[in-house]
Amino acid sequence: MRRGPGFLRRKSVARCVAESRGERGPHLERALGFWSLTAFGVGCTIGAGIFSLTGDVAAHQAGPAVSLAFVLASLACFFAGLCYAEFAAMVPISGSAYSYAYVTLGELTAWIIGWSLVLEWLFSASLVAISWSGYAQAALRDLGLAFPPPLSQAPFTVDARHHVIATGAWLDLPAVAVVLACTVLMLAGTRASAAVNTAIVLAKVFALIVLVAVGARYVHPANWRPFIPANGGSFGQFGWSGLARGAGILFFAYIGFDGVSTLAEEARNPQRTLPWSLFASLLVCTVLYVSVSFVITGLADYRSLAVADPLYYALSAARVPLGSVKTLVSVVALVGLVSVVLASIVGQVRIFYSMARDGLLPPAFARVSGAHQTPVIGTLLTGGVAALIAGVIPLGTLGELISLGTLLAFTMVCVGVLVLRRIDPAAQRPFRTPWVPVVPLLGIASCVVLMVSLPGGTWLQLCAWGALGLLIYAAYGRRHSRLRGADPS
Ligand code: ALA
Repeated sequence: MRRGPGFLRRKSVARCVAESRGERGPHLERALGFWSLTAFGVGCTIGAGIFSLTGDVAAHQAGPAVSLAFVLASLACFFAGLCYAEFAAMVPISGSAYSYAYVTLGELTAWIIGWSLVLEWLFSASLVAISWSGYAQAALRDLGLAFPPPLSQAPFTVDARHHVIATGAWLDLPAVAVVLACTVLMLAGTRASAAVNTAIVLAKVFALIVLVAVGARYVHPANWRPFIPANGGSFGQFGWSGLARGAGILFFAYIGFDGVSTLAEEARNPQRTLPWSLFASLLVCTVLYVSVSFVITGLADYRSLAVADPLYYALSAARVPLGSVKTLVSVVALVGLVSVVLASIVGQVRIFYSMARDGLLPPAFARVSGAHQTPVIGTLLTGGVAALIAGVIPLGTLGELISLGTLLAFTMVCVGVLVLRRIDPAAQRPFRTPWVPVVPLLGIASCVVLMVSLPGGTWLQLCAWGALGLLIYAAYGRRHSRLRGADPS
């Protein structure tokens, strides 16, 4: 441990590595190799972003240039990913950006990052469940079965001008149900869930490739013109600012590729497998997102895509005669979104686990039990809260907030690489971020550009979330930190 004033105290890299080897505290089983990790990364990345938000961003922010917005968002992920990989290989423990911040920027910053990661993982589970509910209800409608309106969506929604509108409904029951079902599945253990996840990921990738291959033959190039529609008079409504805001919102679609690093403690040979799994996940997702969004904006007028199931809708609008392709997309969306909910819960549980092991959260979050050594209390709490949020908060409100919180965490990872190279230049780095400081600085710049393109209201929500986190840290974490316990000076 590094000595320093109070909340600036840092963990040493050696201590983290020792913890990951189980020399201190509880530890998880090392069972995951390159393919499982990459499947996990792709599995928790491809989800509501491509299946739902793409249509919304095309219709409201970027037009056909939604595919370009995906490229811009992927750049931020790429630079941040190079920084993630250095830390993931060097500090191969659960906790991702939270753990990296603990060894570089100190306890308080680590807490703030960990708290931001709750937005990334826990809230993502809720958002993806809401998207799942949209696809499930559309499928039921196609079968002639209407879901009872009071139980079909959140009690309020927010329009394009951020006005709150009552929907008359009580609760999004399918969204609640899918989160609770995933929580039960998680309690069966990571190994079983990883196997299920791998199968679902393959189906998801296959369905998107089929959509691109079949859809490409039915596109109307006129739908791509104008590629970047003229600005509608306010920031973020088409034009270049719309492209930037679209990229900020679509950043959500990439959230999860970094999830590979949250499983570092369960990876075999993490020094080699982690960096390669990170990049493989990011590459697969970028290629699929750009191709799918390019095809669907060629199939249907971008203005018509603001629906819950834009991929299915675009295929129908272009009268693609192969009904089996539409069924495939619909079924895979339903199954594939479940895998993202599962993966988001896994990621969150592991972050809570790391924070509890450091004493910043109650020890119950780090207590593993049962045949699969699962953190039962952390899983139940994560699933319960995610289900509640999924039931009552609308999709759009969650999406922007999650992107902003995650971009903040990614920015801090890039800062962390710069700091650790300075304060601990001799530490062993199995993977070195290339072109330091250029790559971390580009990572910081690209994340900040995406952050400032998001609406002011979302920043206020992030500040409120941050204030709540600081209160919890002051009331609990500061006093129970294991690092302080070990060195109360
Ligand atoms: N990237 C994940 C999704 O798009 C969270 O659903």
